[in-house]
This record gives sequence, structure tokens and C-alpha cells, in this order.
Amino acid sequence: MDKYVIDRGEPLRGTAFISGSKNAASCPLMCAILLAETPTVLENVPDLRDIRSMKLVLEHLNARVEHGNNRLVIDPTDFDTDWVPYEMMSQMRASMYAFGPMIARQRRAAVSKPGGCNIGSRPIDLHLKGFRALGVEMVERAGYVHARHNGMVGSEMSLLGANGPSVGATCNVLMAAALAQGRTIIHGAAREPEVQELARFLNAMGARISGIGSATLTIDGVESLHGTTWRVMPDRIEAATFAVAALITDGDLLLRGVDPGDMGATLTELLRWGAEITVMQEDQALRVRRMPGQTPEPLDLVTGPFPELATDVQPLFAALLGITPGLSRIEDRIYQDRFLYLAELNRLGGQFAQVGNAATIRGVRGYDGAAIMASDLRAGAALTLAALAARGQSTVRRIYHVERGYEQFERKLAALGARIRREAEAEATPRPPAPWEDARESAMGLAAVADEVAPA
Ligand code: EPZ
Repeated sequence: MDKYVIDRGEPLRGTAFISGSKNAASCPLMCAILLAETPTVLENVPDLRDIRSMKLVLEHLNARVEHGNNRLVIDPTDFDTDWVPYEMMSQMRASMYAFGPMIARQRRAAVSKPGGCNIGSRPIDLHLKGFRALGVEMVERAGYVHARHNGMVGSEMSLLGANGPSVGATCNVLMAAALAQGRTIIHGAAREPEVQELARFLNAMGARISGIGSATLTIDGVESLHGTTWRVMPDRIEAATFAVAALITDGDLLLRGVDPGDMGATLTELLRWGAEITVMQEDQALRVRRMPGQTPEPLDLVTGPFPELATDVQPLFAALLGITPGLSRIEDRIYQDRFLYLAELNRLGGQFAQVGNAATIRGVRGYDGAAIMASDLRAGAALTLAALAARGQSTVRRIYHVERGYEQFERKLAALGARIRREAEAEATPRPPAPWEDARESAMGLAAVADEVAPA
């Protein structure tokens, strides 16, 4: 296993090229292709572990997949398999997105029920509710969910759950309803840009979906769908990650290949923090740096369904607020337990605590390098950004989480001036120097260093 070794470097500067969206490409789009009877070409596909995992799922279902140069060609002509085993689901919980297409095209389907993960409990009741509303019989047995029907019929339903709409359930029901008989109306639909992307993609394949971008989607079922050629939308979470990278290192970045229209809540909060953001909509670009002469402000944030602040950017904001003077708070209303990484930020000298479904943050003057460990994808990115701003050297372990969703993360950061490299994980790390053995401290005197690390 590899780790990142990160030394504090210069502020990041230059142009960051943002990849195609993982959360659009790796699940809804790749799975939706199974609904068609002819091949599809996807362009601007990021080269990620999640894309490679989903390729294995599609191959298991007997689709043919060619992948290279940020392009996927998927031929679903021989798609005939109707189940996803435990081993695949446990590797790639987004395999759940294949359930809708399997139900629609095979009439019989079974998937291993996905378990929880490091960001909390992740139920699938809304997926099942939606399929049932289309006339599909659903039975849970021995860790699997089995489905069967003799022709799905459109109906009116609400997919609103206790935590709001569900991206996955909306996508799954949208895919199945595209081939159901008659009209389906989904109330309480998720409005995330990736759901909108799926709806537009399905329409390009011959589906008839209206209300895209609203909380009510209307789907008029069609007999069959055909393949198409499609360019995957920009990754709004990767763009947010590089925006925070610019701010946390006091740098100045131009982000290219973004859609600022999808990033409203993130940009609003970064502006409130004290960022200067220049939007170049027609060039699909954003320039991000600290507002000259302005002291960054602590924030009180709440995540929610789109267009509210995305839960996926929550750890990135936490890393930034950890070194912003004053008291900040982030409440996560989507995933209440998405805070495992706070203990790692505390290892860098941060002052974070979890209180219920919120993080409270007392900003310190700076992080100190240490060995830390990623617990999930966005947490891994946030820890990497914190390490870029930390004094001294840090190592970030379990970076396979990061590689699930960031294309060439360390190379992109290094191209902007970050001192980050990848190394094989050693068996043991060397004994750290005591404060009185540290050359820097002998030169400055212990009292000066103690003052430097004192909380703001
Ligand atoms: C998608 O997950 C994303 N994953 C997540 O990104 C993202 O955090 C999440 O949407 C929210 O935006 C992919 O696109 C692969 P949900 P998904 O169904 O579809 C509850 C990342 O890091 N719920 O919208 O699984 C659920 O518990 C990943 O890139 C039910 O109650 O999320 C949560 O509180 C992590 N019943 C809320 O709804 C259900 O049947 C939203 O979940 C389904 C969900």
C-alpha cells in the first residue's frame, strides 16, 4: 500500500484541470447504458478506481467495456446477467445503481444488500419503495434483495426520506421508469446536478423525462432506448477540493473545466469565509484566492440536499476552518457520522470535537505535520489539504480511499507547487525527535515554538 509524504511547500499557484464527474460517470451513467440496446461512448471519463470497479461490475453483467484515454465504450448487447454478488457490492456499493437497469431489462434481479460504510448508515428503503410503486415484487432474504415483475407500470410516488431526497433512489427509479409502461411521477426527487445529468443522458438515449432540475420528475415510459455519445459533466466536488487547496495554502489557482453554476452553495460559503472568486462562466473557469487584506472568518455551516451545501464538501471545509481563527461549526444533515476524520485533524494539532451530528472547530494558528490516515474518500482529500498547510512533514496513509475518486491527485497538486510524493508504506515510522532534539527549536528556543503552536 502507498502513502502520501507531504512537506509544507509554497502556496499553490497555476491552473488545475478538473476531471469529469466521478459521481455522474461511475454509477448512474455507466449503469444507465445497460438500458440501451446499442453501444454508448462516454467521453471525459476520469481514470479512477471507482470507474475500474464499475467496469468489473458491467463485465460481470456481460456488457463489453473498453476503457482508455478518458473514454469508455460500453456495448450492452449481450447484457443477460441478473445479479450482483456480495463480493462486488462490498467493493463497490454503487453497484446498487445497476439494480434499476437489471430490473428493467431482465425482469428478474438480485443484489447483495449493501452494508453501512465509514460515513454512516446507508439504507436502501427508498430504492425498494420506488421499485414497488412500479409494480415490482421485492423480497429480502439472506442478505440479498430479490426483484421480479411481469411488466412495470408507471405510477405516482414520493421518494422523500427522513434526511430529504435520495440521489441513488431517484437515479434507480428514473432508470427503471424510463422503460415502464405509461407515466411515472416522482415527487421529492433529488435535484443534484448528477441526477440532472442522468435525466438528460437518458433523454439522449430516447427516454422522455421532464421536470429536470426540479423536485418533481415526470417520466413517460418508452419501449426501448438506444446508445449515444456523451461528454461527462465536470466534477463539482473535485473543483471544490482544488478551491480549498488554493485557500488553505494561501495560493492562487485557476480551475479549468468546471461548471460554476453547479457550485453555488460552496462558492457562497467560500466567499463568506474571505475568498476572492472570479467566475469565467463562458470559459468554464474559476479563479480562487484569499481576498487581499481580508482576515478569514469562521463559519457556521449546515449540509443538505442540493442546492444546499453538499455533504461531500463538509470535510474540506473542516480542514480549512481548522486554521481559521475563531469558532466554527459544521452540521451534517445527510450523513450524521461523517466525522471519523476529526481525530486525524486533531493529530495535526487541530481542535475539533464531534457533538451529535456536528463538528465544532476552534481555529488554531496552524497545523503541525504528523502521520494521519484516510477513513473515506473526501476525508482523505481533506487530510491531504490540511497536510499541505502543516508545518513540517506529514504522511497520509490509506490513500486508496482518495484514489477511488480523484484522478492523479498528487500529480495535479505537485504540478501546482505542492511538495507531495507517493511512497510505499514502511513497516514502521522512525522515532520522532523530542522538542529539545529539534534543530529548528534549538535555534528558536522552546518558548517561541510553544507560542507558535498555541491555539488562536
Ligand atoms: C450519493 O450517495 C453520492 N454517491 C455520495 O457521494 C453523496 O454523499 C450522496 O449522494 C449525497 O449527496 C454517489 O454518487 C456514488 P443518497 P447516495 O441516497 O446516492 C438517505 C462521495 O464521497 N437514504 O442521496 O448513496 C441516506 O442515508 C459519495 O462521493 C435513505 O434514507 O446518497 C442519506 O441520509 C459518498 N434511504 C440521504 O438519504 C435510502 O433508500 C441521502 O443519500 C437512500 C438514502
